[in-house]
Amino acid sequence: MIRKYVFGEPFDTEAVVKEIETANGMPCFGTISTENGFAFTYKMSEDDIVYGLGEANRGLNKRGYCYISNCSDDPHHTEEKRSLYAAHNFLVVSGKENFGLFFDYPTVITFDIGYTRSDVLKVSCDAADLNLYVIEGENAYDIVKQFRSIIGRSYIPPKFAFGFGQSRWGYKTKEDFWKVTEGYRSNQIPIDMIYMDIDYMEGYKDFTLNEENFQDFPEFVSDMKEQGIRLVPIIDAGVKVEEGYSVYEEGVRNNYFCKREDGSDFVAAVWPGDTHFPDVLNADARKWFGDHYRVLIDQGIEGFWNDMNEPAIFYSREGMEELKEKIRKIVQEDMEALPVWELGAAVEGVANNPKDYERFYHNVDGKKIRHDKVHNLFGYNMTRAAGEAFERIDPGRRFLMFSRSSYVGMHRYGGIWTGDNKSWWSHILLNLKMMPSLNMCGFLYTGADLGGFGANATRDLVLRWLALGVFTPLMRNHAAIGTREQECYQFENTDDFRGVIETRYRLVPYLYSEYVKAALNDDMYFKPLAFVYPEDEFAVRVEDQMMVGNEIMIAPVYTQNAKGRYVYLPERMKLVKFTKDNQYTEEVLEKGHHYVEIALNEVPLFIREGRCIPVAKAAQTVEKLDTENLELLGFDGAEYELYEDDGIHKDYENPENYKILKK
Ligand code: NOJ
Repeated sequence: MIRKYVFGEPFDTEAVVKEIETANGMPCFGTISTENGFAFTYKMSEDDIVYGLGEANRGLNKRGYCYISNCSDDPHHTEEKRSLYAAHNFLVVSGKENFGLFFDYPTVITFDIGYTRSDVLKVSCDAADLNLYVIEGENAYDIVKQFRSIIGRSYIPPKFAFGFGQSRWGYKTKEDFWKVTEGYRSNQIPIDMIYMDIDYMEGYKDFTLNEENFQDFPEFVSDMKEQGIRLVPIIDAGVKVEEGYSVYEEGVRNNYFCKREDGSDFVAAVWPGDTHFPDVLNADARKWFGDHYRVLIDQGIEGFWNDMNEPAIFYSREGMEELKEKIRKIVQEDMEALPVWELGAAVEGVANNPKDYERFYHNVDGKKIRHDKVHNLFGYNMTRAAGEAFERIDPGRRFLMFSRSSYVGMHRYGGIWTGDNKSWWSHILLNLKMMPSLNMCGFLYTGADLGGFGANATRDLVLRWLALGVFTPLMRNHAAIGTREQECYQFENTDDFRGVIETRYRLVPYLYSEYVKAALNDDMYFKPLAFVYPEDEFAVRVEDQMMVGNEIMIAPVYTQNAKGRYVYLPERMKLVKFTKDNQYTEEVLEKGHHYVEIALNEVPLFIREGRCIPVAKAAQTVEKLDTENLELLGFDGAEYELYEDDGIHKDYENPENYKILKK
């Protein structure tokens, strides 16, 4: 049962695609005030669990902290942070009463979930202009599925996107890409994608190629494809300001860029230096920007990642002037003792400065809207620009697409990666806990930078993180420039890495099948144990084990030097540990608590009682997997419904895509 309450004059975010009649009165849960902005308040019972918020910090149960949806380019995902790159304003209260809340509001909104007062949930924002959807259901899982049914089908990537990908900020030339190819292929470590970070462009200009380093690009793309590798370039939000650069000139000529109050094009410095932001909230500008992806598609490219689309601002002209003034003042006031902290904070504050988001405007259907009023919709609409363009360019075909910033609704056009994490053990756990929350908000094609983006990785950390990455739809190792090289072949005993990544490929038939079924049924691919075993008092509180699809549970290791870990089994299960060379061991474990040994080169999973999963022989690419001869692992007599298609087109409704397999 879904009720929609309208307050004030909401901006149409197009997050919800199903028509829902507006309800009268007030929701039956909590109280609402519209006096000073908007506030929803609910008194939580002691045992209530609060799920949701998608890409947010901390746990699966969001209780006990305060989160702010305010899409932010902040690479330091430490525990105290309240905002990451996304705004996923959906919550489920599960306990004494069960209900879901979606605050469809396009800018900054605060979720105080028992932070100020441990028993009070308070959601508040500055303007009382929003749509609030209140969902009643049997339990949290049911509420999530109802929510998913109103926001539209989740994006389904091409099947190759279920392979492994390598990325690093700093690959510059064809040789760099060949080196990575050689590193993987000569060690027989499977790989399907290599990502092209900003250095492939000419001066960081979107939709250009560095001509010197990438002569005959289409030939290069096709040579790579012959090696079974797709190149996946990055596209940034800011368009470089440069006379003679056609994207810039077209944008200026047609008023497709965000403008200052006085009508001039707003200038923000990002990687290329001065840039303009395409006004992706404007339908014409969105179409124009999206159509540019064709430049690379025509050269053989089949996938992209959209970056810096919060949008990130290193500084604005205005902000820089203000900073200079501030520094002058600080220095003049006290020449003797320079207040370094104050100076440092002033300099740091120039990036992603909230004041800058008040300095530019969108043109939405002829209406001038200040950016800060719709801030959280930028990444969504940049990715929508691409998604809508793909539909025009090749409607029958799937493209790989994921974004850094997002809002609910973007899940129809692409996936997300979780941005600049660090090579920290705690970030393996954060990665795991975030996955089901993202699924609740529609984002199924997701994953973190495996091995960690910032800081130096260690061999054991990369192996353990990859063993979790085996199960995330997006499985990509990515690192920042200047950090220790962390491609799998950079470490000793590459066999161990081969084994872990081969396990991913062995599981692709299962993972892909579960993914597409989840997308087609508005279901979750990653589920908390609580959603499957709601009556089990231990299971409902477990945060470091997850259900993947309908047949298995995972329990990754996320502590250094551990030889294994404690695992809670909510029912009898078969533990399968995959090792190298297509080997595995099996053991049936009874319901209850167990210590399970897991070596660094093993990938464990737990098959539910009476279930089985299909497993292929490892191959070097997804395309090369033999899906005709699948082995079934699990319990004798079990059946599995396999979904399979050509992995390229959108023939999802074809009944022939389903096959029952019997063990
Ligand atoms: C920020 C992104 O989050 C990161 O993944 C990328 O490597 C850098 N931008 C450089 O493009």
